[in-house]
Amino acid sequence: MNRPYVIIVSEVTLDGKLTLYRGASSKELMSLMTKEVYKYLHGIRAEVDAIMVGCETVRTDDPSLTVRYVEGKNPIRIIPCSTANVPYNANIFSKDAPTIIVTTERAPKERVEKIKSLGAEVIFAGEDLVDFNYLLPLLYNRGIEKLMVEGGASINWEFIRLGFVDELRLIHLPVIVGGENVPTLVGGEGFKSLKKVAYFQIANYFVLDNNFLITEWKIKRLQPS
Ligand SMILES: NC(=O)c1ccc[n+]([C@@H]2O[C@H](COP(=O)([O-])OP(=O)(O)OC[C@H]3O[C@@H](n4cnc5c(N)ncnc54)[C@H](OP(=O)(O)O)[C@@H]3O)[C@@H](O)[C@H]2O)c1
Repeated sequence: MNRPYVIIVSEVTLDGKLTLYRGASSKELMSLMTKEVYKYLHGIRAEVDAIMVGCETVRTDDPSLTVRYVEGKNPIRIIPCSTANVPYNANIFSKDAPTIIVTTERAPKERVEKIKSLGAEVIFAGEDLVDFNYLLPLLYNRGIEKLMVEGGASINWEFIRLGFVDELRLIHLPVIVGGENVPTLVGGEGFKSLKKVAYFQIANYFVLDNNFLITEWKIKRLQPS
């Protein structure tokens, strides 16, 4: 496998939502999580070589993507961002961990230079949107063997669509949010066909502080027999 092992990790409500409403930061929902649940989440961060969130999540949530609730090494932060439109004061530019902004030919030169001056690395991958077919082998060849993808919905869809997800780890928060336009775990076009949907097999599950935690492995075949 000439790419990192990919784990999608997400906090979702019982109805599969990522936030309280479209455009909201997921931090509000995550405030429901207890210290023990945060420890579980940060334990995964400490286990991987790199962590990725989409550019929209950086703009909306301003996450740090570091390991704080357990002992462990911070993963490399990787942000796909097709025009390098990241706020220059974003937490991902803190000195706690290396940061890579992955961008495309559409990125204005000034933004790229500014990002480099903040200490982050810039990788070009793609013409329009970030091309994960190109990016993942490149990351793997640089020693990134395990990659955690922590959303949002658009990035999750890209990985699912391309068949690059090996494992899912979901923290089901014990609430229902509702709302037709509220982002769910996976966005994008959707498969629209039972023959194409991504199948997973439960590997482990447990309850932690009234949250249902589940780990699932991607099944290679398309449908259960
Ligand atoms: N509950 C959770 O676990 C959790 C976790 C993370 C995020 N969230 C929530 O999810 C929401 C953000 O999700 P989102 O779906 O709007 O955005 P997203 O997945 O975080 O980021 C999508 C953005 O990434 C950039 N991008 C670059 N290459 C791409 C490619 N090949 N495919 C798709 N996107 C590409 C695009 O921005 P450019 O046009 O700038 O390139 C695109 O708009 C926020 O509300 C956040 O709070 C929740």
